[in-house]
Amino acid sequence: MITPTTKDLISSARKDVHIDLSKSELSRFNIAHPLDLITLPHNALPEMDFDDVDTSCEFLNRELSFPFMITGMTGGTPRGNRLNLAFAEVANQCGIAFGVGSQRSSIANGKSQKELRKLAPKIPIIGNIGGIQLAQENGLELAKAAIEDLEADALAIHLNPLQEIIQPEGESNWRGVLNSIEIAVKTLPCPILIKEVGAGISLPVAKKLHNVGVYYIDVACAGGTSWARIEAERLPKSQRELYEPFLDWGHLITDILPEMRQILPQVTIIGSGGLRNGLDLAKLLYLGCHIGGGASVLLKSLETEELEVKQEHLFQSLKTIKEQLSIALFLTGINKADDLSNLNKML
Ligand SMILES: Cc1cc2nc3c(=O)[nH]c(=O)nc-3n(C[C@H](O)[C@H](O)[C@H](O)COP(=O)(O)O)c2cc1C
Repeated sequence: MITPTTKDLISSARKDVHIDLSKSELSRFNIAHPLDLITLPHNALPEMDFDDVDTSCEFLNRELSFPFMITGMTGGTPRGNRLNLAFAEVANQCGIAFGVGSQRSSIANGKSQKELRKLAPKIPIIGNIGGIQLAQENGLELAKAAIEDLEADALAIHLNPLQEIIQPEGESNWRGVLNSIEIAVKTLPCPILIKEVGAGISLPVAKKLHNVGVYYIDVACAGGTSWARIEAERLPKSQRELYEPFLDWGHLITDILPEMRQILPQVTIIGSGGLRNGLDLAKLLYLGCHIGGGASVLLKSLETEELEVKQEHLFQSLKTIKEQLSIALFLTGINKADDLSNLNKML
């Protein structure tokens, strides 16, 4: 049985502070956006009708209307739950995948999120727990409960050592995480998706993960939400100096993707970290990602200043991302989103 600890209570309260900080400019990496360095090849002779563009794809045995996933953010607090309900319903309407934030505290506090599956019966829903938690006593039990509660199509295990080391209440013992992932892959009833939260997963780490049976990796690179900046912001000013050099720490997606795609062709790569629009999504597909993912960009579009949840804003943001992707496909003369990465290989 998973019982709540003091940490779970702190963690619930912290979740809402994270939402507020991640919506502010303070939470952004202060680096040039890596995707600005990529230019898609313009095709002045597309020889196709714009209406023929097909953005659909398959992910976790379900069809998506376009290759995109809302990556895990919230849950466990009344505000987080409200946001998740909106994410689930709109993701289902738009036909994209949806990941929840860490389920640790909702499970420990006996608060089911079953409602999300009812609102989103046709899309992949991805559960979420931390790698550290998986490696702890009862980790496997927690993972099973997380999957069951959502009837999840996959379980995301997040790796966030940078965030944990800055967080005052964070965990610093990362021993045994890979081993626990290997056991989870062999034991759990659905695929395991390993994700970072903004510092990226390098090729050597991806190889280790693949060697223990992982087939889904969300690289979650530097460029968007910086967890070092968010956690540093929560510290008293006197303690921030220590972490100053690490505020923009992390891999750039443009540095790691091409090689990862080539060396691990069997792995489904989710490209994320600072996605801003549908052209960024097209660039991620061009670099070899199977689908793209985004977190903070959608959070901003969903909640008003008064914390009112506006589903139509989220729907519009997602519709815009899909349309921008379609335009990018048309202008490169490609009618199927899946074929964008082949275009890169042809050059
Ligand atoms: C408010 C907020 C809460 C988050 N909570 C989680 C979480 O519980 N588990 C997780 O795996 N990732 C979490 N993330 C990380 C995101 O899934 C994503 O990997 C990261 O924010 C980078 O994407 P972005 O630049 O599009 O925001 C969170 C992100 C935000 C903005």
